[in-house]
Amino acid sequence: MIVADLTLATSFLEENGLFSAREKALEAFRTVQNRTCRGAEWLGWRRVLSEPDDALLDRIDTHARKIREQADLFIVCGIGGSYQGAKGILHALKKPFHQRPDEPEVIFAGQHLGGRYLASLIEYMSAPKADGSPKEVVINVISKSGTTLETAIAFRLLREWMEERYGVDAGGRIIATTSPQGGVLNRLAEANGYEKYVIPDDVGGRFSVLTPVGLLPVAVAGLDSKTLFYGAVGMFESLERDPGNLLDYAAARYRFHEEGIALDLISSFDPEWREMIGWLQQLLGESEGKEGKGLFPGVASYTTDLHSIGQMVQQGQRNLLETMLRIRRPMSNLLIREREGNVAGVDDGLTYLEGKSLHQINQSAEDGTIRAHVDGDVPVIQLMVDAMGEQQLGEFIYFYELFTAVYGTMLGVNPFDQPGVEAYKKAMYQQLGKPS
Ligand code: PA5
Repeated sequence: MIVADLTLATSFLEENGLFSAREKALEAFRTVQNRTCRGAEWLGWRRVLSEPDDALLDRIDTHARKIREQADLFIVCGIGGSYQGAKGILHALKKPFHQRPDEPEVIFAGQHLGGRYLASLIEYMSAPKADGSPKEVVINVISKSGTTLETAIAFRLLREWMEERYGVDAGGRIIATTSPQGGVLNRLAEANGYEKYVIPDDVGGRFSVLTPVGLLPVAVAGLDSKTLFYGAVGMFESLERDPGNLLDYAAARYRFHEEGIALDLISSFDPEWREMIGWLQQLLGESEGKEGKGLFPGVASYTTDLHSIGQMVQQGQRNLLETMLRIRRPMSNLLIREREGNVAGVDDGLTYLEGKSLHQINQSAEDGTIRAHVDGDVPVIQLMVDAMGEQQLGEFIYFYELFTAVYGTMLGVNPFDQPGVEAYKKAMYQQLGKPS
């Protein structure tokens, strides 16, 4: 279950304005439901959940099992909506420092133009394993358009490596996830025999994590892609029945926007959320930041960032609100144990914490920070999630996809396009002398 607790935010707002914003949120939700909102031709991410394709889920599962046996490295090559969701889920659910030798290491590439990163990755691919045998590699290139430069360049270099290493068999180790037809990737897939997955035409990149874009990398990483998917289906059904809490949340955020708040700082005290917040930042940022509107989605990982931007949050310009993601169930039961032989004056000064768990200490930091931020005039929306698992992440993903559609519709923008992204591409291609 996901609950947006608004009590420490709506106290900053007047009830009247909130009431009419709530009406507007309901109206926006209805236009999403009856497909009359702006960009209604992009609502396929709802159909993906209302009509689950179990044959596709089985195909992904079976394919992932094969890749897990076959590969030491599974390289996901994509950018934006074509990588951030999978990265977020893996970062949230895979234990850090626990790469098992019998399962593939999942590596992300093609999400920037950094040459050092790619050169280093190619070196890593070429270096033998500890037992002296060569690393086995499988690549999943993900691009709906097939033309995104970052992904295309990385894929070209990685493909060359694959062709050198595997010769005519390279194509059997490359998977292309792209639009149903047309485009460079479809042509390459057909010409070279890559296995292909489809991103439906009516599902935009940042709304595509619950298609093969996110599900295949998640399954290859050994996570339960079906539970993730059906977690989202459960949230879809529950919000169709009762969107009340989501609409209250959208109304409050809309009122803050109207009141001149410029920044929504999305934070968490669980470092596991960091990359998932990156997914949310992309989803909200590309969807609402247009026509001079929208809240800039900032990202903070606490307590780390309390020692950097915490000062700014507490005492800087009062033009922000905070959305804090909280997990009810402890992420670990690590304890500060009593330490034998502590000598007063030369001990580490932590005796008062003995017997407490890291979870309890982190929660105190969380509660204390929320109190301080609210006292410092920062409205805090608390997004409560029961636990961190596949099902809960599936629920979280759909909750925010629908939230983004409703909130963007309230703003009057098309939440599903990103016309502003073209500006940098145009200027870059001009510099590079790309033929028109
Ligand atoms: O949300 C979007 O549409 C974008 O963020 C895209 O996912 C991103 O630009 C990558 O595009 P593509 O999959 O076409 O390479």
